[in-house]
Amino acid sequence: MSTLATILQDEISTATLQKGLYAIAACTLIGAAAYAGYKAAEPETKHLPSHRHPESNEQIEKVLEALRLDDDDKLRVIMQSLEREMELGLSPATHPTADVKMFATYVRSTADGSETGQVLALDLGGTNFRVLLVDLLPQSKVELTSKIFVIPQSIMLGEGSYLFRHLADCLMEFMNKENLNKPGVRYPLGFTFSFPCKQEGLASARLSTWTKGFTCSGVVNEDVVKMLQVAIDEKNINVQCVALVNDTVGTLMACAYKDPNTEIGLILGTGTNACYMEKLDRVGTWDGDYNDPKQVIINMEWGAFGNNHRLNHIRTKYDEEVDLSSVNPGKQIFEKMISGMYMGEIVRLIMLDLIHQNLLFIGKCNGSEDFKTPLFTRGGFYTKYVSSVEMDEGIGFSNTRRVLEDIGIRNPSYDDCAIVQHICKIVSKRAARLAGAGLAVLINRINKPNVTVGVDGSLYRYHPRFKRNMEKCMQNLVSKNIKFLLQLSNDGSGIGAALTVAAAEALSNQEKTKRSYPLSDDGSGKGAGLIAVVASRYLQQLSQSTSTLHNHNNEKVPTQFQKHLSTLQSPM
Ligand code: GLC
Repeated sequence: MSTLATILQDEISTATLQKGLYAIAACTLIGAAAYAGYKAAEPETKHLPSHRHPESNEQIEKVLEALRLDDDDKLRVIMQSLEREMELGLSPATHPTADVKMFATYVRSTADGSETGQVLALDLGGTNFRVLLVDLLPQSKVELTSKIFVIPQSIMLGEGSYLFRHLADCLMEFMNKENLNKPGVRYPLGFTFSFPCKQEGLASARLSTWTKGFTCSGVVNEDVVKMLQVAIDEKNINVQCVALVNDTVGTLMACAYKDPNTEIGLILGTGTNACYMEKLDRVGTWDGDYNDPKQVIINMEWGAFGNNHRLNHIRTKYDEEVDLSSVNPGKQIFEKMISGMYMGEIVRLIMLDLIHQNLLFIGKCNGSEDFKTPLFTRGGFYTKYVSSVEMDEGIGFSNTRRVLEDIGIRNPSYDDCAIVQHICKIVSKRAARLAGAGLAVLINRINKPNVTVGVDGSLYRYHPRFKRNMEKCMQNLVSKNIKFLLQLSNDGSGIGAALTVAAAEALSNQEKTKRSYPLSDDGSGKGAGLIAVVASRYLQQLSQSTSTLHNHNNEKVPTQFQKHLSTLQSPM
């Protein structure tokens, strides 16, 4: 009975179960059909995966993985490789093929703050060009009057003589405005020319290659001081170029003017480069004297690190694309991973990749009109946008929204903003860590208890966390017994050139008693050499002497440059 009852009950329950299952199956079918129909009609945007934390989204992380350089050991390998390349640049046998050229500058020591006087300076290093009037006042105080001029693309890519004519035109305009064009007064001028140059003296430097988007013809291997002077003389302006400096050297000089521990100059702007004070016995290429001070500032031109493929293991497809579409493919590999001229473009290429993989701006870039927007145009995402995007804190993304609207994304979503900020952070952090590793090599090599680095450049100045990211990695990479300081150097390019000129001018005033101003008859190369020779010769005698420069009213201004004269050395 109990068995019968069980069977009966089982039959009943089986039937019930069957009915239930049919019902569920039917519901599932109807549900699936309804879902399929809904999906087909659903707008694209509804597929959006949630990126509340884009960094934890696997697909996006996979794309960005190659750009991460968070491991200090990876940086240590790069440091060793950079130091090897530096040695190759310093050795005469390997210098010609070395990627990091390590040019000796003939500047042997830094200024001490006692220099005073008034000089003109030209600063050419990127798309902007500045003319400056620099007043070096007592107690390391400096007053600047300057004007910025734009260098049009047509001039950057045109004939060299047009470039120098343009510089002379701007100089003349500035001098007229400042009322400096007065008969009988010849102004000394310092030329901050921020491109790789093999220096043959203080006022003689041959361009070894163009960088940062310039390709002017007829300048490589030429003496750029001579070319500038020809253009100045054509305009009948009473100005004599007496010194050429790289912007890194200007930055070091200007920073040392206030802080005697300064041993390194660093630029993080349109391009990137560093210079530092090196011991003469480590400079195999040195062809000058070995008198005291037994040191010389080396313009590293570190932007070219990687040209010999030493950075291939960390380069990404975005770096390769930036390089291939530049005017100098295969060159300035380190610079292209760090500096302001390229950072925005790297971010743009990553955004395009994510769009392509349907991970960003979903449903927002389909129309043919969209492809004409800055987002789809080479160079359309500026590096200043990277700084602006990274300044956003919290969930408002007000800067990021503005930037995205500017590049053609209407009504960006929260996810869009968060992902773009994430990309910017990864790209700028990689750049900061690479630059930090480079600096760590120099600081460890200098190996003094306190080392100050003078830093300038728009990227360093305006990016909200570039400095912090550099310092963070440097704390682990710099020897524990060394304290370092990154010091923003205000207007180093202008002031540094002026400091160098001030010394040259002091010297020329000494020399006038013996012969005419040296640059007039035998060319600037020899003239600069002469200045340098005389500098060493008169160094001892000059300890009490004064020199003259002209102030705004063309009155003679007493100057004291004796200590600074030791910065000038002969290339003999
Ligand atoms: C480029 C130039 C270098 C300059 C740097 C920063 O790398 O080659 O001379 O110092 O940009 O402006």
